[in-house]
Amino acid sequence: MQVIFKELTICFEEILKDNLKKHEKKEEFAKIRKNLINQASKEEFGDYQCNICLVLSKIYKKNPREIAIEFVQTLKKNKKISILCEDLEIAGPGFINIKLKKNILIQEIKSNIKCPRVGIPLSKNNTHAPEKVIVDFSSPNIAKEMHVGHLRSTIIGDSISKVFELRGYNVLRLNHIGDWGTQFGMLITQLKDIYSNNLEKINKIKISDLVEFYKASKKRFDNEKEFQNRSREEVVKLQSGDKKSIQAWKLLCNQSRKEFDQIYKILNIKIKERGESFYNPFLKSIIEDLDSKKILKEDQGAKCVFLDGMKNKEGNPLPLIIQKNDGGFNYATTDLAAIRYRFNKEPDGDSAKRIIYVTDHGQSSHFAGVFQVAKRANWIPEFCELNHVPFGLVQGIDGKKLKTREGDTIKLKDLLSESVKRAKEDLLKRLENENRHETDAFISNTSRAIGIGAVKYADLSQNRITNYQFSFEKMLSLNGNTAPYLLYTLVRISGINRKNNMSEDDINSESISYSNDIEWKLIRKLLKFDEVIISIEKDLMPNRLCNYLFELCQTFNRFYDQVPILKGEIDTKISRLTLCTLTEKTLRLSLEILGIESLDRM
Ligand code: ARG
Repeated sequence: MQVIFKELTICFEEILKDNLKKHEKKEEFAKIRKNLINQASKEEFGDYQCNICLVLSKIYKKNPREIAIEFVQTLKKNKKISILCEDLEIAGPGFINIKLKKNILIQEIKSNIKCPRVGIPLSKNNTHAPEKVIVDFSSPNIAKEMHVGHLRSTIIGDSISKVFELRGYNVLRLNHIGDWGTQFGMLITQLKDIYSNNLEKINKIKISDLVEFYKASKKRFDNEKEFQNRSREEVVKLQSGDKKSIQAWKLLCNQSRKEFDQIYKILNIKIKERGESFYNPFLKSIIEDLDSKKILKEDQGAKCVFLDGMKNKEGNPLPLIIQKNDGGFNYATTDLAAIRYRFNKEPDGDSAKRIIYVTDHGQSSHFAGVFQVAKRANWIPEFCELNHVPFGLVQGIDGKKLKTREGDTIKLKDLLSESVKRAKEDLLKRLENENRHETDAFISNTSRAIGIGAVKYADLSQNRITNYQFSFEKMLSLNGNTAPYLLYTLVRISGINRKNNMSEDDINSESISYSNDIEWKLIRKLLKFDEVIISIEKDLMPNRLCNYLFELCQTFNRFYDQVPILKGEIDTKISRLTLCTLTEKTLRLSLEILGIESLDRM
């Protein structure tokens, strides 16, 4: 209903302008025009709400209700408004409740049902050349565990990318893998020691447990002086492009990549790898660039930028270290090079308009610092935007760090397969209770879709900023705001479709009409879909879609329980089937955005 919302807003703006002029307060318009109309805070208030008369009351020094009476009178004379609105009602101290005409709502339903994007408009920025949005997410580190934090980033980043794709942006999903840095010195030295320098053979060697390998080399690095020295030399060799060192580095990266790809396959994630090493050639010029712009300061041999408005624990200005005193570069240096590159030098000639970073909130001050330096260095072009999308920790049900029963950190693969295993147990129980027989293929596919979908949904449905407690029991439940509940609703609709003998053409008929309260409730919910998606594009909060879907499914299930769908007169039947179809389309598209597989039976 974005289009209608915009039309209404324009009418209200015009009338507000005239009203201000009449009271000789024209100049106030720019200040108070923002959010002139909002979604109604409660269903019974109608579709939208306007609170401007309370604001005007302070400006005119007059009773808000009196202002509202005058305002509504003028609104009602407006042609467009009388076409769109059934009623404008003054409520409380001077709110205006706006109810749209039923035929307008039905028109919207009809147009959304024909639309493959279920009424989601393309962003107006994309009607000519689509704008490029970069989503930097997942980004695990070579030779280290991909942990639950990376899992959250992967799930949230994927769904944010999908929202932008749906809105017609040119989305570049980037995996900023940690594949560069001093730790490679010790890893390569260890590799050379173990395989007695025979690096020609190294491509055939398997490092079955890279994480153990990492730990072992770290231990040596911390305890053996000689190993430490060789590791430092190795870093220099690697950075100068020594053939053998590069070969060893590639081997390590490949091994890790294989591990990560397994997880991406299970989660069905598409992402382009462009790791930290990619920016290595640009690091030196970052220093030069910052230096020439007079932002860089030397502090105890390190090159840093002192951040405005950010202080350390002692209350001193916080430095962002760009080059350490040993000449090495930092995580932040690479991020600065990445920003400059992404805004100015994308290889397809198409530079980003917006870059979105999805990491845990522990990195918030890192990004605040990096964004500030990029801004001061003038690397952010006009009308371009940088966003950090922070999220909280994943905890066990005890509120502590997520661990196995034995107290070890949980491997992602194990976590996902545990969820699938439990989904299968639930499914088998259900089949037994209902005395149903299904093939093995059905059972394994269904439990996989439910198990993986449940983990994703549990993550996405939380307000990402808070920590969330990981509970298989809750996320796999058929009741509550869970993936199984949404899937179950979808399965219900598929069940209706199987029993229905009408074709889609019959259903697109003109004879749609509604008489029941619950039907109107469902219609109003369905028509909010585009507003939810657009708000996610703005605020990057996928949980809004989950909350919406939960409410949509609750409303649909009430509708399903209260009115017979396939039994009534032909027109009633068509009208109700239309609502089923639109609910189904909305659900399918939304699940797709959330990266969850749809099911027809479960
Ligand atoms: N590799 C980092 C980590 O594991 C995340 C990288 C996020 N992206 C970035 N451009 N800094 O914490």
